[in-house]
Amino acid sequence: MDSQRRVVSGMRPTGRLHLGHYHGVLKSWVRLQHEYECFFFVADWHAMTTEYEQPQALSTHVWDMLIDWLAAGINPGSATLFIQSKIPEQAELHLLLSMLTPQGWLERVPSYKDKKSSLHESESSTYGLLGYPLLQAADILTYRAGLVPVGADQVAHIEMARDLARRFNHLYGREAGFEDHARLALKKIGKKTGKLYKELRRDFLSHGNNDALLTAQALVREQVSLTLSDRERLIGYLEGVGRTILPEPHEMLTATAKMPGLDGEKMSSSGNNFIPLRAEPDEVSQKIRTMRTDPARVRLTDPGNPDVCPVWPFHQVYSDESLQQRVQGACRGGEWGCLECKQPVIDAIVAEQEPIRARAAQYENEPDLLRSLIADGTDNARDAARATLDEVREAMGLSYR
Ligand code: TRP
Ligand code: SF4
Repeated sequence: MDSQRRVVSGMRPTGRLHLGHYHGVLKSWVRLQHEYECFFFVADWHAMTTEYEQPQALSTHVWDMLIDWLAAGINPGSATLFIQSKIPEQAELHLLLSMLTPQGWLERVPSYKDKKSSLHESESSTYGLLGYPLLQAADILTYRAGLVPVGADQVAHIEMARDLARRFNHLYGREAGFEDHARLALKKIGKKTGKLYKELRRDFLSHGNNDALLTAQALVREQVSLTLSDRERLIGYLEGVGRTILPEPHEMLTATAKMPGLDGEKMSSSGNNFIPLRAEPDEVSQKIRTMRTDPARVRLTDPGNPDVCPVWPFHQVYSDESLQQRVQGACRGGEWGCLECKQPVIDAIVAEQEPIRARAAQYENEPDLLRSLIADGTDNARDAARATLDEVREAMGLSYR
């Protein structure tokens, strides 16, 4: 398993998704699934950190969101799709990591401070809320993923996962006779490769040459005949530390179109300014047609200004260069009515959603198919999680009988 090729990401089950989720996250997941080994999961435990008093809607939200993922083009044949709470190993890793997590690391996380200060007086700040980023770290480290596609607001959480992996490896990656084990492992990769490995290691350790480190890591990963433990020893030995049991993950900030809302603010579920991913054409048309435009335009011939009109950002997402120029000219010159200006946006959204609606209908009509796809994904995820937890328990001295 190559952690640099493995991607993990999760999403809280908020119910049906909207175009903001599609343009901001799902489209990039669809792209990633062909390039990496992807694990995408519904973060239902994460939802409970704030919604623990209203669990009734949870299961509807979980399945609705999964239908939206599949409708958006996430292919269960390419990516592993599952539900967090079906993998108890993630909870076990959360618990084990909690033993070595300094309390201050959690208290300093910006999203925790924000959430805490926005709590109502009657609401108590729970342990679950404080432990949220640790749970997220466990999500990632359970799958030993090197890459985590997230929004900018999540970067602090990924950093913490990275710090925890480092701390874990530092504490538990040292085994008795580590150097001897590493030298033995080195013998197994052949003289020539072994020599190259030693040169690269020296180049990194004495000259701090990072490229040498990366080359050597790649070299070790290519040695398919090595056991997993030997490979980890050789990776760890490169940096002069112990075994890398939990690889350090990195955030992957994907460039995505910023999706405007119907009111000019960012599209969000709570803002009531969204277009559902699975909207009917009539709903799209009605929502766009009733959008506010430049208030200075009373009559068709009044010149307008796209800069103050919330329809313009939609053209920036959906219209090509020449249509955008046409909009600018026709609006400023008072040549177009606003409804005329909105029609190509409506058409583009309806066309974009056509295959999405068709795929969604298939899964809505066949709930058993959906359940069985997710059961397969869950089995796959559980295998990966078990392999990690076996090593984690052993490294922490918990594998006695
Ligand atoms: N905290 C993330 C969010 O609110 C969701 C999430 C949970 C996640 N676990 C994750 C994202 C693991 C990436 C990896 O958006
Ligand atoms: Fe907005 Fe288009 Fe009307 Fe100009 S013509 S105000 S860009 S909807």
